[in-house]
Amino acid sequence: MIRSVKAFAPATVANVSCGFDILGFAIDAMGDTVELIRKDEPGLRVVSIEGDGGKLPLEAKKNTCAVAIQAMLDELDEQVGMDIYLTKGLPLGSGMGSSAASAVAALEAANCLLGRPFEKKNLLPFAIEAEKVACGAAHADNVAPSLLGGFVLIRDYHPLDVIKLPVPNGLYCTLLHPHYELNTADSRSVLRDKIPMKHSTIQSGNVAGLIAGLYEGDFELISRSLRDVIAEPYRAVLLPGFYEVREALKTAGALGMGISGSGPTLFALSKGKDTAQAIASAAKEVYSSIGLGVDVYFSEINTKGAYLIEEK
Ligand code: HSE
Repeated sequence: MIRSVKAFAPATVANVSCGFDILGFAIDAMGDTVELIRKDEPGLRVVSIEGDGGKLPLEAKKNTCAVAIQAMLDELDEQVGMDIYLTKGLPLGSGMGSSAASAVAALEAANCLLGRPFEKKNLLPFAIEAEKVACGAAHADNVAPSLLGGFVLIRDYHPLDVIKLPVPNGLYCTLLHPHYELNTADSRSVLRDKIPMKHSTIQSGNVAGLIAGLYEGDFELISRSLRDVIAEPYRAVLLPGFYEVREALKTAGALGMGISGSGPTLFALSKGKDTAQAIASAAKEVYSSIGLGVDVYFSEINTKGAYLIEEK
């Protein structure tokens, strides 16, 4: 019987500009790690969290790892006990899918510990339960790519219909993480419930264009489609320097840029590593000119998703 397992889940960029709550992709640069140790008595216990500055809850009902695993155990009607050790590689409130990576790594590990009762894709509903607890919204555009890797489309939520999309060769992502937190619930609260018909038309065209661009490996089409008229105009006001960064990234050769998930991290897509590096340098200059510290990462798109590191 497996006694202990360790799994990793990558950071993600949700929305990808035009795909609010329905598109996301995983990146190679970083992620979270969860170790689980089987206990003889039932119950989930979050033993330690490293790398969160003491901000995340250890209480099982509020912790995304425990909530996700509990949802899985409830579905199986199992009473297995586990001790949970979470190591955060992702900053909190960053817009890089921090809560999603923790929940997904926990599910990948728990599934292994239990002898893989679920196909990977079928772990998603449990991860969505955890997102609900973490940010009040049951969105899947971080958990799905963190679990499955690559670009993922959530075509529908009821019932869940998730489609993996192709990743064109040479596509790079640059992430710009300014030094402040913005939680998803606050960033969702500025959005409107209703959108004008003309915005719906523009947004649908761009989502379709982006997906076609990924299938065709057409970087120009991807570039034209990276536009968001639904969330970005309302969220940009929460993000100092957004429009200046956008201009600088365009000049540096970005195919397009946008808010990573609910921010404050911004992402840019580019063709090739050199452009990704040039974008990173351009962004650093802008942030420094407005007096904001920024961490910059660039990476290829992660196509693997969550994976097991070890089992004993
Ligand atoms: N689609 C979600 C949002 C992602 O934009 O609120 C949160 O990371």
